[in-house]
Formats: sequence, structure tokens, C-alpha cells
Amino acid sequence: MSLNIRFLPEEPAHDAQIEQINAEAFGPGRFARAAYKIREAGPHDSKLSFVALHEDEVVASVRQTWIMAGEGRALLLGPLAVRPVYKNKGIGRKLVRIALDAAREADAGVVVLVGDEPYYGPLGFKRIPNGQITMPRPVDANRLLAVELQEGALARLTGRVVHAGVPNAKNPLEERASTVNRADA
Ligand SMILES: CC(C)(COP(=O)(O)OP(=O)(O)OC[C@H]1O[C@@H](n2cnc3c(N)ncnc32)[C@H](O)[C@@H]1OP(=O)(O)O)[C@@H](O)C(=O)NCCC(=O)NCCS
Repeated sequence: MSLNIRFLPEEPAHDAQIEQINAEAFGPGRFARAAYKIREAGPHDSKLSFVALHEDEVVASVRQTWIMAGEGRALLLGPLAVRPVYKNKGIGRKLVRIALDAAREADAGVVVLVGDEPYYGPLGFKRIPNGQITMPRPVDANRLLAVELQEGALARLTGRVVHAGVPNAKNPLEERASTVNRADA
């Protein structure tokens, strides 16, 4: 029997369930991850973040956060998590594809993530050359992956990766975080 899964942009009402899914998938260790450290500095872009719903319950989530490094700007994809019961049904891959389409439409030149190449490779992600960018916490260089959406965008991404705010944020909290992060950069 095939599941009726709906894929939708994330809304504030999904927050609690998304937090629960990420806690279940990554445990308390998630707060120590390099990508989390970046995301801690400011909000993700909810317009470029998506959920999978089954009968109005959030069963999977992917988020994207604007980052910058050197002359470059990019989206950081993650966390991506699927509730255990719903794994291996193609939901994770579908969410990544939806996120990449949205990134392309938002004119992002490159999407970066920290993850397993065997999973993300077939979705277009390749290793970022060793040492090209630095995350705020150590990461296994083999897991630092990117998909280039515009030619030359990956090469412009160099050095320390920081949060880049949310362009055209309507939510005043997002506006503020965006300003703070620009001022910090
Ligand atoms: C990784 C995750 C998002 C995959 O989501 P999913 O919806 O179960 O995956 P899909 O159905 O799209 O794809 C399933 C395929 O990916 C493979 N796969 C799953 N995790 C993988 C991994 N870490 N490395 C390589 N392959 C992986 C499965 O074996 C399966 O292979 P098959 O199609 O040959 O049978 C999900 O397992 C999850 O939430 N894991 C915990 C959190 C996590 O690790 N997130 C990713 C952070 S990098």
C-alpha cells in the first residue's frame, strides 16, 4: 500500500514536531554539530524549508539556512530527518530534491551540507575540495559536500562559513537576526 505523503513548505505550526523529529534522529549530540553552530547564529529560511506530512502529522523535515564564506553565498541544507517508521520510502530523497528546486528558484548558486556522500552523491552532491571552507567546528572533510547550481558559485565560497541572514525576511525576528549577522560578519 502506498502512503499518501504531502510535501509542503514549512510553517510555524510545524516547529514542535520538527524539533521532536530532529531530537529523535540526532539525539542530544545535535547541539555539538558544526552545522548546528551555524544555525544557532540565526534562523533558517522557512520559505526554502519543507516538511512531509502524513495525515497532517509531520513525518520528515528538511531545512535550509543562508550562509556565506569569502566572496560566496550559499544555502546550508539540513537537518534532514525522517521519522523511523517512514524511512526507506523515498521521503528523504524527495525532500532533498524539493529543497534543491527551491534553492535554484531562490537564485542560490550553491547548496552545501555535512552528510554521507553515498546518500547525497546520487542527488548531485560532491565533496568540497579539502580546506576550501572552514566550519565553526571540526568536520570530516569527506562529509563536506556541495551541489553547484550556478557555475563558479562554489569557487567563490572560501574560508570561514558564517550565517548570512535571511533575504527579504517578513518576520521581524528574522530581519533582526539577519542584521545582527551582517554586522558580525
Ligand atoms: C538519512 C535519512 C534522512 C534518509 O531518509 P529516507 O527517507 O529513509 O531515505 P530514502 O527513502 O530517500 O532513501 C533510502 C535509501 O538511502 C539509503 N540510506 C539511508 N541512509 C543512508 C546513509 N546515511 N548513507 C548511505 N545511504 C543511506 C538507504 O539504505 C536506502 O537505500 P536503497 O534505496 O538502496 O534501499 C533518514 O534515514 C534519517 O532521518 N536518518 C537519521 C538522520 C540523518 O542521518 N540525517 C541525515 C544527516 S546527513
